Amino acid sequence: MTDLRLVGGQLLPPATRERRHLLSVSDLTRDDVERILAAARSFADSQERETKKLPTLRGRVVLNVFYESSTRTSSSFELAAKRLSADTVTLRASGSSVEKGESLKDTALTLSAYDPDVIVIRHPEAGAAEFVARLTKARVVNAGDGKHQHPTQALLDLYTLRSTFGRLDGLQVAIVGDVAHSRVARSLVQALNLVGSQAILVGPPALLPPGIAPVSHDIAAIADVDVVYVLRMQRERMLEGANFVPSLGEYSRQYGITAARVRPGQFVMHPGPVNRGVELDGDVADSEASLILEQVRAGLVVRMAILYDLLTAGPVAVEATVETA
Ligand code: NCD
Repeated sequence: MTDLRLVGGQLLPPATRERRHLLSVSDLTRDDVERILAAARSFADSQERETKKLPTLRGRVVLNVFYESSTRTSSSFELAAKRLSADTVTLRASGSSVEKGESLKDTALTLSAYDPDVIVIRHPEAGAAEFVARLTKARVVNAGDGKHQHPTQALLDLYTLRSTFGRLDGLQVAIVGDVAHSRVARSLVQALNLVGSQAILVGPPALLPPGIAPVSHDIAAIADVDVVYVLRMQRERMLEGANFVPSLGEYSRQYGITAARVRPGQFVMHPGPVNRGVELDGDVADSEASLILEQVRAGLVVRMAILYDLLTAGPVAVEATVETA
């Protein structure tokens, strides 16, 4: 019996013994994307029911470790773990021993001593999630590392695109704004390419890194796309003292997404947090064209699917696992 492991009182099937992480979109194949999106769809159906909690991950432990501020990502991971009946703790840098100078290594080793099944981590340094993955026996999910990767955001964006367009291939997405400091953009461009869609980057030269996707410095380039994906100025990731745009007012005039710039039939997405009136006008954010709250809803079921996928094998069987008591 050396190749079977008892976790939470359940004998796990062999496939679950293989330890996997979600650190980058490059960890994913097209099949992985389809499997995760299908699981998310099943979980979305389960969330329509009166009893939203599923016993699927009962006895599992999910630790959320957030070294950077977060509203959507941290709340959705916590709720996702709870809806699947896992035990979950969310730790934030402020109020934890990180404030007392504890290193990422010591925090990771300390939390690993609880033998968690999953560690979800957000950190300002690129490579932090991978660093933790090398130190712990848990599966690690990258919830954003510096300006490097944010794979769970890319998956929830794909889920939102499929719900809206009924397909993932052949879509044109303009990513507008501060791409240079955006892990969301880096992950999304890769994810769109993986499923047969295209990104174009639109913004001032200083905010568009070369070599990721075709670029345009003219906002008119958004005219023909299916989706305008708007990013905020991520000033906390900019080098201190560097001026990437002459002023926010000037940026808004040239690149801000206003109702006049959105063509009928086009959709607008934004990972949040939105700075209304800077990169995106409030009336567009609140309009029918906006998928922003769809993205938030997708975040919950896609993160349920990611936790499920990392911890179990086989297709999701929501019917079979619904609590009857
Ligand atoms: C993004 C992030 O943290 O990278 N937000 C998110 O996860 N929803 C985008 C941002 O901070 O602008």
